Amino acid sequence: MTTDNWTDIKEACEQVLPKDVVAYIDRHRGSVHAESNLIAILHMVQAANGYLSREAMHAVAQLAQIPLAKVTGVATFYHYFRLHPRGKHMINVCLGTACYVKGADKVAERLMNDLGIGFGETTKDGLFSLESARCVGCCGLAPVVMIDDQVHGPVAPGDIATILDKYTKKEKGPKAPALV
Ligand code: FES
Repeated sequence: MTTDNWTDIKEACEQVLPKDVVAYIDRHRGSVHAESNLIAILHMVQAANGYLSREAMHAVAQLAQIPLAKVTGVATFYHYFRLHPRGKHMINVCLGTACYVKGADKVAERLMNDLGIGFGETTKDGLFSLESARCVGCCGLAPVVMIDDQVHGPVAPGDIATILDKYTKKEKGPKAPALV
């Protein structure tokens, strides 16, 4: 059932959600299993926006006519859903057995220290996000750190500054020659 101001609500939601998500919700609204589509909807929103913002979750709740508490409950329950924007570079520290026995915990600790963030967080400048992984399939290089699609290994805590520096420098570009 929709309200008198349904047109206004829908227009506001359309500003926040991608068109295909709005169309998907429209097709399934009012179906007996409306709530079972929620996970699919959240996947679509995250694929389009990179994460689930409060505004997007609010719009999903209104448009799909599902309580906001239900939407945020699902979004926070599943590890897969991100509630904050991702950094430009995704760092995954492998904490699988082979990496762990070779000191991955110390590598992770150094990364957290140098970046000033914990797992699931993004640096203030938006450059790096940090996650942990359980075996990335390169156990022979343990301990392994993946940055985007690139595998680094074996990595010692003392290597972290140099590795991060490469990505930071790439962002800043080459230094302009000094004027004389
Ligand atoms: S345990 Fe780290 S790559 Fe396999």
